[in-house]
Amino acid sequence: MCGIVGYVGARQATPALLGALRKLEYRGYDSAGIAVLSGGGLVVEKAKGMLQVLEDRIAGREISGCLGIGHTRWATHGEPSDVNAHPQTNTSGTIAVVHNGIVENHQRLKEWLQSQGVVFRTRTDTETIAHLINYYYRGNIFDAVLKTLHKLEGAYALCVISSDFPDRLIAAKKENPLVLGFGRGENFVASDVPALLEHTREVYYMDEGEIAAVYGDHVDVFTGRGERIIPRVQHVDWDVDAAEKGGYEHFMLKEMHEQPRAIADTVKPRIIDAPGGGRDIFFEELPGTDFWKDASRVVIAACGTAWHAGVVARYAFERFARIPTEAETASEYRYKNPILDSRTVFIVVSQSGETADTLAAVRLAKSRGARVMAITNVVGSTLSREADVRIYTRAGPEIAVASTKAFTTQLVCLYLLALKAGFVRGALSPEDYQKGIAELLAVPDKAAEILARKGVIQKEAALQFNKNKVFFIGRLFDYAAGLESALKLKEISYTHSEAFAAGELKHGPIALVDDRTLVIALATQRALFDKIASNIAQVSSRGAVTLAITQDTSGYFDQAADQVFVIPQVDDAFSPLLSVIPAQLFAYYCAIQKGNNPDRPRNLAKSVTVE
Ligand code: AGP
Repeated sequence: MCGIVGYVGARQATPALLGALRKLEYRGYDSAGIAVLSGGGLVVEKAKGMLQVLEDRIAGREISGCLGIGHTRWATHGEPSDVNAHPQTNTSGTIAVVHNGIVENHQRLKEWLQSQGVVFRTRTDTETIAHLINYYYRGNIFDAVLKTLHKLEGAYALCVISSDFPDRLIAAKKENPLVLGFGRGENFVASDVPALLEHTREVYYMDEGEIAAVYGDHVDVFTGRGERIIPRVQHVDWDVDAAEKGGYEHFMLKEMHEQPRAIADTVKPRIIDAPGGGRDIFFEELPGTDFWKDASRVVIAACGTAWHAGVVARYAFERFARIPTEAETASEYRYKNPILDSRTVFIVVSQSGETADTLAAVRLAKSRGARVMAITNVVGSTLSREADVRIYTRAGPEIAVASTKAFTTQLVCLYLLALKAGFVRGALSPEDYQKGIAELLAVPDKAAEILARKGVIQKEAALQFNKNKVFFIGRLFDYAAGLESALKLKEISYTHSEAFAAGELKHGPIALVDDRTLVIALATQRALFDKIASNIAQVSSRGAVTLAITQDTSGYFDQAADQVFVIPQVDDAFSPLLSVIPAQLFAYYCAIQKGNNPDRPRNLAKSVTVE
């Protein structure tokens, strides 16, 4: 939630800040603003709406100055408006702050500041920070920020400038991400790496509680206790293009097309030749595999799409490894009194590694003695640092709010773990283990084959996008894939869509079915073809239009469903990796038909760092 940037150097700050903010709009886009030190004073420009509104507002005006901060907002306290947009300033306008996170004790701090005579102009928690810094300011901006941080409860990533200090900005981080970018004679601060890539590939992911004084020619980093540390600068080798649309109309379309590559990048490095012949699964991140032998159960906690990956994995762990497995939504789990023991393998899945509910589940599990294994896409994320072991999906940056390549790469990580666990525990024969590995290695080509037929799905979307409800039905793995398919459709096309376990239809949901309903049957498990065909018949006879996504090539579903989309042949247990792709495409093309921007769905943000 919210993207923040900072620049100090010899160039004009305004274009550098606006360019960097463009790359962070996925983090929030209900308002934007910049503050630049110009002619000895801070010039602050803010506007409700997307970044373009701000750019239009300042177009043609010269805001010259080489020090500045910027912000793109997803409102938490105070509705989206010009005044609530960041930067927020102290009363005299000499200190400006951009902030990502929530100051949980801001009401108490505000009342105290008011008792000291401070007049507040906004309902934001961030304004409290600006006034507090002003309160503690005795001629040293760094000390004032440090003292302020000690008063704040909750999460923050923030960047501060003062008109008294034209050569530096102050950056601080707790629970929300912040990256320093090192240039030549110029330095940067940003919430995420894509904002920096145009300028530098040398970055430092700030650690919990750290505070930095960033100058044009050097950076001083300190712990929250004021001890100086040497930042471990990393080289980022992503292409600049990898963070851009690369010729596709939308990030989501691009990211769906990246799935064959992303899946291959995630699977292949983990497959090695086994000493005795055949292949083996090896995660260099995992300290041995004996823990699988002792495991009594697996608990997977995650949110949204990542939780759906966990639901698929639940079936995979039980099938391949015969370990009882639960998939829990982290937002619920954090309020449970969980039963955990040292034999529970606790797995957390998160694309961003910054989801507040997921991190809370991690902290709870750790406080109960569980060792946490994280699957995440973001190196240096909070989750990656807090987990005991971490496995990275190699999806590359995912910009579209609706997750696609993150889902399929999370899935392949979980399948690799389930296969390995099954093999180590003796639940999976060497032959079936080899077969499973071969299935995963073959997925990228099959995914590419589906994407090459996207025109078929596009036509179907053009016919069906106006249905007022869409239900996905399926059993077991197909039901899990249906959950993700329904989420995609509702997120970006705003169509009411739900997934139902097909056998549950008759227990209630079938009452909803009428001639304005589209039912998409996920029918990939051979042993269940007859069952799902009956369900299709039941909804057809109540007026629904039906589409079957299947791997049957015999024409069996041609009789049952109005339309059939055949995915490449795959072992039933791996089918969600493929069946979800036509569903992603369907959601995308329905959104396009409705004139929605699939990259920026209403009311949603990419990284949900508040509860
Ligand atoms: C996916 O399309 C959603 N935007 C959302 O459900 C997301 O998966 C969820 O917020 C979890 O995010 P994470 O993977 O970054 O933790």
